[in-house]
Amino acid sequence: MQVRNTGKKESVRVMFNSISTRYDFLNHFLSFGIDILWRKKLVRMLKRQNPTSILDVATGTGDLAIEASRIKNVRITGVDIAEEMLEVGHTKVLKKGLSKVIDLQYADSENLPFDAFVYDASIVSFGVRNFENLGTGLDEMFRVLKPNGRIYILEFSMPTNFPILQLYNFYFKFILPLIGRLISKDKSAYTYLYDSVQDFPSGKDFLIQLQQAGFASPKQHKLSFGIASIYTGIKMDNSTEK
Ligand SMILES: C[S@@+](CC[C@H](N)C(=O)[O-])C[C@H]1O[C@@H](n2cnc3c(N)ncnc32)[C@H](O)[C@@H]1O
Repeated sequence: MQVRNTGKKESVRVMFNSISTRYDFLNHFLSFGIDILWRKKLVRMLKRQNPTSILDVATGTGDLAIEASRIKNVRITGVDIAEEMLEVGHTKVLKKGLSKVIDLQYADSENLPFDAFVYDASIVSFGVRNFENLGTGLDEMFRVLKPNGRIYILEFSMPTNFPILQLYNFYFKFILPLIGRLISKDKSAYTYLYDSVQDFPSGKDFLIQLQQAGFASPKQHKLSFGIASIYTGIKMDNSTEK
């Protein structure tokens, strides 16, 4: 499997490798555990579709894949480019006795080593923002889906209401980088988080990206006043490959 390592991709890989052993703790600590509830919400939505084959892209340490393994008779493939994040994920999967259900692999979401029309669902949490090329990543998540397959994307979004937006910006810009830096010892990791959320399409802009990748009925489901959102879309039966 070839990973095309150019600027952003390589720095994202290096950054996540460097925080891999502290990633889970930091995630839950800095979000006051809300990230866990958001992943659960995504899996509740996913479950209604009764998927048996799921691809979890940018799986990291596997939290979303592990949550999705609660669905009956499911098989999940998780991919990531940060080997050390996957290493932490492997240990968790083994400890939980899920190695027959979850397969974690080193692969690039923007160049997936899978055939078209294989998965019932493509899922991702807090991953698409890190893609070097969002359009290519969404195209790939579309390509591997079966007809009527669905995409579920959990990502930070920009709240629009006062004072949520102001509080959100303050927390992301000042508090989170400070605590993140102290605990993760990686100077850039949590400054990057603020910048990457600011620069990333949110709400309607993200729905346009889904449409451009070929997804029908793109929808945004806001979570916690719009701090995060689950975006969904369908690969219609009559969709043609691009
Ligand atoms: C914030 S973490 C999210 C991990 C996990 N999904 C979660 O919910 O905790 C982002 C992950 O995206 C991965 N990533 C970024 N670009 C990628 C790509 N092109 N292909 C695969 N993984 C990628 C990073 O290595 C990192 O593990």
